Amino acid sequence: MTILDDESNRDLVTRLYAEILLREPDREGLAGHVRLLNMGRITPQQLEESMRNSIEFRELVRPKATHRLRFTGTCDEREFASKCREHDFWYHSFYFDNGFVQRGDYNIGLDIGEYGFPADMSDLTVLDVGTGSGWFATYFEQLGAQVTTVDARGYCDFDVRGRPGYPDVALEKPVPDRVLADGRPIYYSPVSKGFWIMKDILGLTAEYVNARVYEIRPELFQGKTFDLVFMGAVLMHLRDPIGALMALRSVCKHRLIANAIPLRALEDVPVMQMLKGDSITWWAPNESCLVEWFKAAGFTRIEPVSVVHLTVDKPFVDEHGHSSAVTQDVALVNAWV
Ligand SMILES: C[S@@+](CC[C@H](N)C(=O)[O-])C[C@H]1O[C@@H](n2cnc3c(N)ncnc32)[C@H](O)[C@@H]1O
Repeated sequence: MTILDDESNRDLVTRLYAEILLREPDREGLAGHVRLLNMGRITPQQLEESMRNSIEFRELVRPKATHRLRFTGTCDEREFASKCREHDFWYHSFYFDNGFVQRGDYNIGLDIGEYGFPADMSDLTVLDVGTGSGWFATYFEQLGAQVTTVDARGYCDFDVRGRPGYPDVALEKPVPDRVLADGRPIYYSPVSKGFWIMKDILGLTAEYVNARVYEIRPELFQGKTFDLVFMGAVLMHLRDPIGALMALRSVCKHRLIANAIPLRALEDVPVMQMLKGDSITWWAPNESCLVEWFKAAGFTRIEPVSVVHLTVDKPFVDEHGHSSAVTQDVALVNAWV
């Protein structure tokens, strides 16, 4: 073996350690691996393979554990699957402690630790605005909260660019999607049928109120206000985010948690960018602008903005082959009244 071989093998081992184990080799590891390479006892490919099979590497890349919701239903797995099939667009994945699974666009259970929700929600009243398939509502209820959800009556309630007003719901849906025992009509948003399927399966007590975000006020809930208001992945779909936050402020007793698509630009100046792409996605604020939105809506204390991941699981693909799910980071704000 030449000195050059020895040196190039040292470089190789050092590079593999950096790339795979994200660290420098210790003296023993370096010497041992270089010796084996020099002697031709292992090939570089075998060395790489053994590093990728090492416990150290597997610890490094071990995926975060998904929070599994408690399965509180009584149906068997076949019935569960058949009920879930009544809806094709699942925005959330539901992984349950008994092994039942309904996969959807985003596996929130994987990243839930990043939201900073209280670990115990007993005695809390929580409003989940834009509940979608209802993963968060289920999570809050299972932590002991008394949960109310809000969602749109349909596409008619969405802020759609170029549409000069909100069409009457009857034009979109001549009859309600269901009528409650007390006679109240219920309409599913394009996303929220999943909430109702899970509510039926699990026996959730969470209430559901149809409204546009801007219509939120105490009267909508018989005068009730909420300890915690959560609005996940809705701000980006609103023409008037400050108006929406003002509405939430009116029912928020204590704390609001919401997230937004971040704009990474000009951090010293509050700036928001109008997003192009689809007709229902509107604004990306930079961090200082996001904070200004909450101040403008009357929140007094705003925590530093943090990041949460949205991890795509099994994206829904429409009849045109399109999917809107994207693994991404969003900006999270905690604000207090
Ligand atoms: C992207 S999903 C978010 C679901 C869930 N909150 C989360 O964070 O994963 C947005 C939800 O907001 C609802 N939504 C959109 N615009 C709304 C509006 N103007 N008023 C009320 N709900 C709205 C949609 O129907 C949908 O359920």
